Amino acid sequence: MAQITKAVFPVAGLGTRFLPATKASPKEMLPIVDKPLIQYAVEEAAAAGITQMIFVTGRNKRAIEDHFDKNYELEAELEARGKQSLLEEVRRAIPSGITCIYLRQVDALGLGHAVLCARPVVGEEPFAVLLADDLIDAQPPVLQQMKELFLEARCSVLGVQRVAPADTGQYGIVKIDPGEGKARRIRGIVEKPPPGAAPSTLGVVGRYILTPRIFHHLEGLKPGAGGEIQLTDGIAALAREEPVMAFEFDGVRFDCGSKLGYLQATVAYGLKHGEVGQAFAGYLAGLASLRDVPGAVLARGRE
Ligand code: UTP
Repeated sequence: MAQITKAVFPVAGLGTRFLPATKASPKEMLPIVDKPLIQYAVEEAAAAGITQMIFVTGRNKRAIEDHFDKNYELEAELEARGKQSLLEEVRRAIPSGITCIYLRQVDALGLGHAVLCARPVVGEEPFAVLLADDLIDAQPPVLQQMKELFLEARCSVLGVQRVAPADTGQYGIVKIDPGEGKARRIRGIVEKPPPGAAPSTLGVVGRYILTPRIFHHLEGLKPGAGGEIQLTDGIAALAREEPVMAFEFDGVRFDCGSKLGYLQATVAYGLKHGEVGQAFAGYLAGLASLRDVPGAVLARGRE
């Protein structure tokens, strides 16, 4: 089986949890400190040796194409003003040696459908899928960890992590044989099972390496949970036919598709940011209580 050279970034979702911020601009362009989520994901894929970045886009996603395109006017302006380091930063947004391909998912029919849209470009090769709103801070980067397992096991690999038993209804949850080890073969997978009906507390987060056979299973799928064509249902069918591994990666994951996860990521990445980290840490340390935040009134929560 070949090396992995292609990554699919499904970015056609509606991002309803982040409205109105996502009304006219994509969730994947939300910045964590100074870089949009999609750039973190592309850098992670590039670090794992991926050279073809395939974006499955929808309406209001032009900003993503522009972000990975050259901006001649901006570069000329920065050059004229002698802002060399900013200029390099802007150029670095596009890792060298990669090709970006854009496909349209005309209707947001679900993640499984979005992945299926990439079939004509992926062809008969194993490929990665990254959901940019799952930001994962890991060393080595999580896709690199998964690639190493893939090269050894030669089968599909799902990035999983332990989730709170009360939260299983937010994830695809895998069923695995009891035992030890970070990588184990799955015996089933269910989308968003309510607590109590979940086969485990291992939830799939937004990193996948899939064999091209997945397309065959996605093709015939009917809408599942939430009325969407679910990638989870395709993987469940794939796992009945060939081995699929769940891999408990090392790293910290932030669910940046939710407001709380996004704020947590902003604090974590702010603290380690080369330019503002020290000052930000000093600011946080200087707060004796949350009431010291200028202008802050602690919310009472929804009633
Ligand atoms: P989410 O479940 O996070 O949905 O999709 P969403 O629309 O992005 O956000 P909310 O839940 O309404 O706030 C998971 C991933 O699948 C992509 C999304 O862009 C996201 O990366 N997706 C989802 C598609 O590309 N197409 C779809 O039809 C649905």
